[in-house]
Amino acid sequence: MRKKIVAGNWKCNTNLQEGIELAKAVDTLVAKEAADDVVVVLGVPFTHLSKVVESVNTNRIGVSAQNCAAEAKGAFTGEVSAEMVKSTGAEYVILGHSERREYYGETSETLNKKLALALKNGLTPIYCCGESLEVREAEAQNEFVKKQLEETIFNLPESDFRKLVIAYEPIWAIGTGKTASSEQAQEIHAFIRSTIAAKFGDEVAEETSILYGGSCKPSNAKELFANKDVDGGLIGGAALKAEDFLGIINGF
Ligand code: 13P
Repeated sequence: MRKKIVAGNWKCNTNLQEGIELAKAVDTLVAKEAADDVVVVLGVPFTHLSKVVESVNTNRIGVSAQNCAAEAKGAFTGEVSAEMVKSTGAEYVILGHSERREYYGETSETLNKKLALALKNGLTPIYCCGESLEVREAEAQNEFVKKQLEETIFNLPESDFRKLVIAYEPIWAIGTGKTASSEQAQEIHAFIRSTIAAKFGDEVAEETSILYGGSCKPSNAKELFANKDVDGGLIGGAALKAEDFLGIINGF
């Protein structure tokens, strides 16, 4: 059965001390109050990875980077490789977030290199896709997302594709307070699953967790997660408060 997953993406927030405090608060609340069958992941800044790994029960909470380098190693000043991420004890890496595509020029070509390195180093990629408001208003979201998948993760061998988590994050819903409706989320998640089925077969499609991201909060998580093709969330702002993050985890 496919996994239910709630992953926080802290983005460029919290200094190290604040991050450790937040991770510990999440750890305590999750241990006491979260359902065992929901996988919980914290996507933290690179600087926090090893300390957050030390601060949580990693048998219960997975730790994720928010990016990794497109090169394995070498003269790439400022880059952090997949191997470095893995060596901290982190198990996941968020790849292809719209903020990285938009502000840092991340292309499908770069993403393919990052995906290969993440997988080679035993990290689970949380691969993000999703359309802009302009694309949504033109009702071209399905074609847009399909193209994102076809240019990247659909090129992977099936054995690697099975290791991925997908996050659908409509750009117009990120940090805007404007969540996709439950129907909109279900519709595109079902579409994504159908494209996976067409490419890799029904069994792979059924096993792939597809998370929703974009202004997900404790007040709307339940309705979103009740959809049969929404397997959890990738949470930005609401992941910065341990109680709100727990409220979303308990939306299942
Ligand atoms: P918000 O939850 O702040 O809208 O961010 C969503 C997101 O981008 C998670 O990766």
